[in-house]
Amino acid sequence: MQYDTAIIGAGAAGMMCAAHAGGRVLLIDHAKAPGEKIRISGGGRCNFTNMHCAPNAFLSNNPHFAKSALARYTQWDFLDLVERHRIAWHEKTLGQLFCDVSAKEIIAMLRGLMQAAGVDLRLQSSVANITRRESGFSFDLQTPDGLRRITASNLVLATGGKSIPKMGATGFAYDIARQFGLPVTETRAALVPFTFPQARFAPISGVALPSIINAGAASFEEALLFTHRGLSGPAVLQASSYWQDGAPVCIDLLPHADLFTLLREQRQRSGRRNLTTELSRHLPTRLVDFLAEDMDLGGNLADWPDSRLKELADTLKNWQLTPSGTEGYRTAEVTLGGIDTDALSSRSMQSREVPGLYAIGEAVDVTGWLGGYNFQWAWSSGMAAARAI
Ligand code: FDA
Repeated sequence: MQYDTAIIGAGAAGMMCAAHAGGRVLLIDHAKAPGEKIRISGGGRCNFTNMHCAPNAFLSNNPHFAKSALARYTQWDFLDLVERHRIAWHEKTLGQLFCDVSAKEIIAMLRGLMQAAGVDLRLQSSVANITRRESGFSFDLQTPDGLRRITASNLVLATGGKSIPKMGATGFAYDIARQFGLPVTETRAALVPFTFPQARFAPISGVALPSIINAGAASFEEALLFTHRGLSGPAVLQASSYWQDGAPVCIDLLPHADLFTLLREQRQRSGRRNLTTELSRHLPTRLVDFLAEDMDLGGNLADWPDSRLKELADTLKNWQLTPSGTEGYRTAEVTLGGIDTDALSSRSMQSREVPGLYAIGEAVDVTGWLGGYNFQWAWSSGMAAARAI
């Protein structure tokens, strides 16, 4: 069978591209349903974009690569699409836009657009033996109905990254990219919780508080969550994308508070108060009890001279911890790295060396922050390829 465009991967990027590419489009996915990550995203409400989306919120070997696609199909363009489909939305925090009702509305919108465009969607299907000739690509398509040979002028790789293999994530796009000579940068799990040896934080699992976390040159102010395995919460997930194996992260447990001054003032007013009682006014009590086991926090405020109070305040505002690792692809929201952007046109997402071969979405070495940025990259890069096709 002959198509103008075959797209492998019916996730966010693949569906966006299929809906807008025009011509005869075949969209293939091995899953039972398209857009499974959209369905589970944002706690079932899909954080579909971010009002503050800008290129600085993306990691890539080439930090300029994402600019073109993001500028030519912006967060406002996607929001406009959402509004035209009467999907109710709200801003949760930090510019993050969510569906009021359900992530399924975003999938239904994309499916509706694809249906209107006459896209041939093949689920529970797989692709093998891809070859390229003058006229385009050909490959074996195994569907529940049988095996057939397909030809298509354009081939779009949209199978995402390796995160959450349980949901069907594979390194397929990387393998096909390599087959056609496109380099792939080193990949690793990102937006992922940190782990620590011996379940260090198990006693305070469930404790959450506002924090600022620094990893490398990056700094994020959001919630921190202690877990049985280690550290999680938005601030930690963000930091994980910038963390290097073996490096420490630095945590400010009291952002914006001048703890030294607060403790000193309180010492003047009520010196006979326990230091831990006073700390519990500023930090969760379970965390204070946990810290008290590690550090010597005994005695009343009056027992603590300025020098010790200052040292304590500095420690709590600059808590250095070295994770032993991350939870890996099993729980990571995204994959850092991917198909090397040097091999692609930033305007069209087409391979520079292999005409007709495109790569979009998470499969490419462009990774966004937490907060709707990764879906925006899927929409923008999917649209860039669709327009070029
Ligand atoms: P995506 O992974 O969506 O799609 C790839 C498709 O390819 C899948 O349908 C898969 O089945 C298919 N596929 C893979 N291998 C194949 C093969 N060999 N043959 C055929 N098909 C194959 N981002 C965000 O901006 N806001 C959010 O709220 C969230 N929330 C979130 C929660 C969770 C739990 C996760 C894991 C991730 C998020 N993300 C997110 C990240 C976001 O889901 C992700 O960046 C995008 O889905 C990437 O879109 P793609 O289309 O590139 O890949």
